[in-house]
Amino acid sequence: MDPAAMKERAAHAAVSHVERGMRLGLGTGSTAEAFVRGLAERVAEGLTVVGVPTSERTAALAQELKIPLSTLDETPELDLTIDGADEIDPKLRLIKGGGGALLREKIVAAASHQMLVIADSSKRVDVLGAFPLPIEVVPFGLGASVRAIRAAADALELAGELTVRKAADGGVFVTDGGHVIVDAAFGRIPDPEVLADRLLHIPGVVEHGLFIGLATGALIAGADEVIHLSQA
Ligand code: A5P
Repeated sequence: MDPAAMKERAAHAAVSHVERGMRLGLGTGSTAEAFVRGLAERVAEGLTVVGVPTSERTAALAQELKIPLSTLDETPELDLTIDGADEIDPKLRLIKGGGGALLREKIVAAASHQMLVIADSSKRVDVLGAFPLPIEVVPFGLGASVRAIRAAADALELAGELTVRKAADGGVFVTDGGHVIVDAAFGRIPDPEVLADRLLHIPGVVEHGLFIGLATGALIAGADEVIHLSQA
């Protein structure tokens, strides 16, 4: 089964976790989009929910599909966020931000009682880091921030290239919040908590794609079945 079909399957399974009246965080990425489409079908059948999107992209899709939307200003407490991930480890720690929406994704997940991750089985890893870690940085002082990220990584003996993300048109990729992303190809991140802490001490770093202690469950679709993992 190809990854797209597995993503679809995980997304489909997630729709059955949505209950009437829920306040939902709507993730970003291809798996989250499949969930939004499935949710829209249930909304069309009469399910009442309200969604808070994690990106302009997801907001546009949900609006087009007529899912009632809100903001964290109007609805600061959410029941459930459903979102994809780039990597998931056995403790449900994640790397996110491959789609560049990590800041809003993290704010929305943190405002939710539960976060359910949906993914195909290729996203499961023993140790995070094969997927380059996205680090969101303010454009001002970018060179100095990259240098500080390098120093923080060196102190943890994490090697690997730091690359400022490019958009499809070749220009610098700019997030919904007007920031840029540095992708850190560390290869292995043996201690994500320590790295997360060190990165947040760098003034120019707004956020990073390590999601620790946020996911409460995950639906992982393989070729044969969907596995439901829960926080121990
Ligand atoms: C978006 O910024 C990311 O965090 C996505 O959730 C992640 O990249 C997963 O994307 P796919 O569902 O497209 O694989």
